Amino acid sequence: MPIIYHSSSRTFHLYNARMSYILKVLKNGHIAQLYCGKKIHDREDFDALLELEPKPMSVCAYKEDPAFSLEHIKREFPSALSGDMRMPSIDVRQENGSRILNFVYQDHVIFSGKPALEGLPATYVEREEEASTLHIHLYDEVCHLKAILQYSIFEERSVLSRSVRLENEGEQTLVLERLASLNLDLPDSDYDFVDLKGAWARERHILVQPLHPGIQSIYSIRGHSSNNFNPFLGLKRKNATEAAGEMLGFTLVYSGNFLAQVDVDVYDTARISIGMHPFTFSWPLLPSNHFQSPEALFVYSDQGMNGVSQTFHKLFRERLCRGPWKSKARPILMNNWEGTYFDFDEDKILKMAKEAKALGVELFVLDDGWFEGRNSDTSSLGDWWPDRTKLPEGIDGLGKKIESMGLRFGLWIEPEMVNEKSELYEKHPDWVLGAPERSMSQGRHQYVLDFSNPEVVDYIFGLLVKVLDEAPISYVKWDMNRSLSEVYSSRHRPEEQGTIYHRYILGVYRLYSMLIERYPHILFESCASGGARFDPGMLYYAPQTWTSDDTDAAERIKIQYGTSVLYPLCSMGSHVSAIPNHQLNRNTPLQTRADVAYFGTFGYELDPLKLDDAEKEAIKKQIEFMKKYRELIQFGTFYRLVSPFEKNECAWMVVSDDRNTAIVAYYRILQEVNSKYRRLYLQGLDPSKVYQIEGKERLYYGDELMYAGLVNTDASCGEHNLKAQEGDFLSRLYILHGKDL
Ligand code: GLA
Repeated sequence: MPIIYHSSSRTFHLYNARMSYILKVLKNGHIAQLYCGKKIHDREDFDALLELEPKPMSVCAYKEDPAFSLEHIKREFPSALSGDMRMPSIDVRQENGSRILNFVYQDHVIFSGKPALEGLPATYVEREEEASTLHIHLYDEVCHLKAILQYSIFEERSVLSRSVRLENEGEQTLVLERLASLNLDLPDSDYDFVDLKGAWARERHILVQPLHPGIQSIYSIRGHSSNNFNPFLGLKRKNATEAAGEMLGFTLVYSGNFLAQVDVDVYDTARISIGMHPFTFSWPLLPSNHFQSPEALFVYSDQGMNGVSQTFHKLFRERLCRGPWKSKARPILMNNWEGTYFDFDEDKILKMAKEAKALGVELFVLDDGWFEGRNSDTSSLGDWWPDRTKLPEGIDGLGKKIESMGLRFGLWIEPEMVNEKSELYEKHPDWVLGAPERSMSQGRHQYVLDFSNPEVVDYIFGLLVKVLDEAPISYVKWDMNRSLSEVYSSRHRPEEQGTIYHRYILGVYRLYSMLIERYPHILFESCASGGARFDPGMLYYAPQTWTSDDTDAAERIKIQYGTSVLYPLCSMGSHVSAIPNHQLNRNTPLQTRADVAYFGTFGYELDPLKLDDAEKEAIKKQIEFMKKYRELIQFGTFYRLVSPFEKNECAWMVVSDDRNTAIVAYYRILQEVNSKYRRLYLQGLDPSKVYQIEGKERLYYGDELMYAGLVNTDASCGEHNLKAQEGDFLSRLYILHGKDL
């Protein structure tokens, strides 16, 4: 069991072959953080790591001990107004107005396995031996609040999971104003802060900045995890690269408002915290009630950024995603959105589907516009029954016809929203989020349904069930196209208004759970104006997410490169679309569009009836290629090689588990004249194997390709030599087959 408790020193050592995480109960009963990083030997005590030193001006917990200052101790669960001058991870307003807390160690339990978190998404185990769990029970004896610090460490993964459960054992109502899921105090701050920033159509661009004194944070208060910042925070040692060096990665398995921050104090220690955003959270905890925080995940890597990513990828694929699709190669789909927008009818869709089938597509997805009166984005959200003028035989009739072609059928929904112009809004204007006597902002002409109200969730479930029960639907794209603004629920009491953002997300999770339970075979793809709710919480319900509305190949290189920092390729929706590209008006070669889209779930988002014969032939080959290699791409080990955020080019590769097959992709954004010599230093190959690269005679040793590199110099350095495809937006794939010597 990789959790040891040394009772003589009251020290916990959580470890596996890769990492150690060491805590200690201090003399005042608080929990100190002693070490977190690469695995170190166990010993009876690690007290040498406890730095207690009298500092001028410090506030100290004991009169006779000027060295014992909470301001300087590295802590696991810092509470408000306790003498610790950094940001707390818990803040509770008590009935007398006090926010002073003093959580003292009571006892703990250690056990095999990892329990589920009630009502919340979380990583899980399939066998008890996969993880060990430690619950440390702390108690504030003035307000009778129990805090259970929940830690699980995975046996075979460099991952620690952390969450907090609060139980009100007293007689007063306690108002939770802040509860971080994880707090970690590091002894120094010599790190770069890595995050994934963005906006609509340019999601998850990697940003690396040095840590500095004060607070650096990323957050969302939009009601969803958002495309502005993803709930991911990395701390990278200055000398760490994609391939080597130390990096810590943090994320939150949650889809609502979050705050992830690093607070660097004047002694250069760094306090990391991640959890629900306190600004939009205020939760009255009644006597005998409890509250469960979302799960935070911490990954330690001594193999650079790729090490962090690969650990998250494997964890998400194997122990966060669920259902029959989690480890199955994903169907190659065609989605009609960019092909038709709202302008379609059954006849048009059937023609598109027939052509899609001839190209080798496996799943046809009918996007927005299929329900009553929906001819633009100004109306009808909420009225989830088919528009008979467009689809005379309904979704059921259309679905059956598509299935009879040998295709699977998928459907778009946006269940959390309603248009003012809709039957639903007419009947239930009080079912939207908004305060009486105040105006409500619209986003894409729509309001947000009050998913904190169970009646609303149940009603939407009832409508969806009618469609999904009748029609042969194997895939659902669940969209969410606006952020929450005037968040007020008329269903809840005034003192409960601070709970609505969280209850809203719990409502979303409940609807997902009900649908998954009823339709376990359906493959869900989550979406929020592209990738504005691409987070680990969603992956628990929907194993793939539409990465971005931006389908331009050059932009997608950056978006997918950044997204891969946290998310596995099997979770990234990626499609080939028509040119000129609808978001940018840019033309990129069809092959480049496919070479980028292969590195995800893969599909097409265009009107196949507009393709010429040469394009159709090319697409057939692309689909054949993807069918052959999708398992490797979606479930192999992914390495980022060259960053498009640093250069005019990008490279990445995937390697099979047995290291016998690998695909290397190289992209150059703009053509360069008389360009430099170039090599790609490959990763993850077996150094002692030889590899044949398709299309090349020569055999290469694995070590040669990794350390001497694969020469990738541009053959064309003058106009006389330009091949058709070697202009701007060039892509090259190298397929490697290894054999033992
Ligand atoms: C959002 C999605 C798109 C498409 C449209 C339909 O923008 O991101 O992929 O489904 O909605 O309205």
